[in-house]
Amino acid sequence: MRHSFLSKLLGKFERVGPDEIQNVFLRLVKEKGFLEAIFNSLQEGVVVLDSRGKIQYANMALQRLFGVNPEEMLGKEIKQCVPLIDWPELIALEKMVSRDFQVFYPEPRYLNLSLIPLEEIGKKNAAFIAIFYDITASREKTLEVIETEKLNLLTMLAAGVAHELGNPINALSIHFQLLEKRFKKLLQKTEEKGKKEIESSFAAIRSELRRLDGIINQFLKAIRPSPPKLRLLSVNQVIKQTVEFLSPEFQNLDILLEMNLDRGLPLLRADKNQLKQAFYNILKNGIEAVGKNGIIKISTHYDDSFLTISFQDNGGGIPQEAMSQVFKPYFTTKASGTGLGLLIVRRIIRDHGGEVQIESEDGKGTTVKILLPRAERLIRLLPMAQDKS
Ligand SMILES: Nc1ncnc2c1ncn2[C@@H]1O[C@H](COP(=O)(O)OP(=O)(O)O)[C@@H](O)[C@H]1O
Ligand SMILES: [Mg+2]
Repeated sequence: MRHSFLSKLLGKFERVGPDEIQNVFLRLVKEKGFLEAIFNSLQEGVVVLDSRGKIQYANMALQRLFGVNPEEMLGKEIKQCVPLIDWPELIALEKMVSRDFQVFYPEPRYLNLSLIPLEEIGKKNAAFIAIFYDITASREKTLEVIETEKLNLLTMLAAGVAHELGNPINALSIHFQLLEKRFKKLLQKTEEKGKKEIESSFAAIRSELRRLDGIINQFLKAIRPSPPKLRLLSVNQVIKQTVEFLSPEFQNLDILLEMNLDRGLPLLRADKNQLKQAFYNILKNGIEAVGKNGIIKISTHYDDSFLTISFQDNGGGIPQEAMSQVFKPYFTTKASGTGLGLLIVRRIIRDHGGEVQIESEDGKGTTVKILLPRAERLIRLLPMAQDKS
């Protein structure tokens, strides 16, 4: 094939003038530049190998994929430049092959190699094209999907177990209350010391049962969120109700509560119970952080876009290194914490289209801000569109 083409070409050369030959060469050079530009703009690495695996051509992508200068690769053996592949074995196969492999330099990536033999296979000057595709992104996506599926399965199992635990705990609670009542009568005849001991045991069981119940409820809320049921409500009102619910704790610890609620705060479409849960979790953290004689300030205000609710405490604060962790499931610095409180807060607020911001200085206290978008925001856009007419 090639011979006959060449002899034809040479035959023609005898009949063409030097100008024409120059033109042909100029065009060839131009076309070579054009092709090179195309190859160099490819994301994929392209390498042309001769039959012994020596590099005849390498495009610019090689620099990015392997951290080697493509020009310096010319004439070298491919196994020196890309040592992670068994080149002699692949070349000996003499057919198109595809392999996935991992590189760690200049950065960790997953690559796919397609080795394609050029026509004259089996002959002395057989050549190969090796194309390297970067498959890192798609591979990570696949791993992510597998992880999520695993997590979903685990979550379902855990939710089932947690739900099942609810029934025996309920039964325990009921029997415990009955037992407590009966004992109260018997205790009247018991001497003072024994009475105290029994009462403190009862108190311990009561509080542990409540804790168990709390953990399971929190857990189920965290993994089985329900979409918010939106109703027009006063955020200030919801804050007051939450504070009321927590008032025994504020009183027990002599915590000073300062409330600065903007009276003009507009109503908002939101899920009352979910907001209560979010405020409760934040305040509970505040109470646990400040302890006896602490100070907690709650304030609300608004602008055109958001209602802002701010919870400020003068507790120990959150150390810088823990800041990125506080929303992670099960992250807790407390002996009996669940590490689910803030996760639930964030999910509830996000379900309302809002945002949670935490500012904290180690040793000086913490401010948790909740921004809730005002429903009017959407409606305000409409009159503007009509303004034109
Ligand atoms: N107001 C706060 N002051 C100091 N640390 C806080 C505060 N709120 C949250 N944290 C930190 O964030 C962690 C996670 O909080 P949370 O998700 O509510 O779980 P838990 O309260 O069960 O530990 C807490 O253990 C604590 O270290
Ligand atoms: Mg908490």
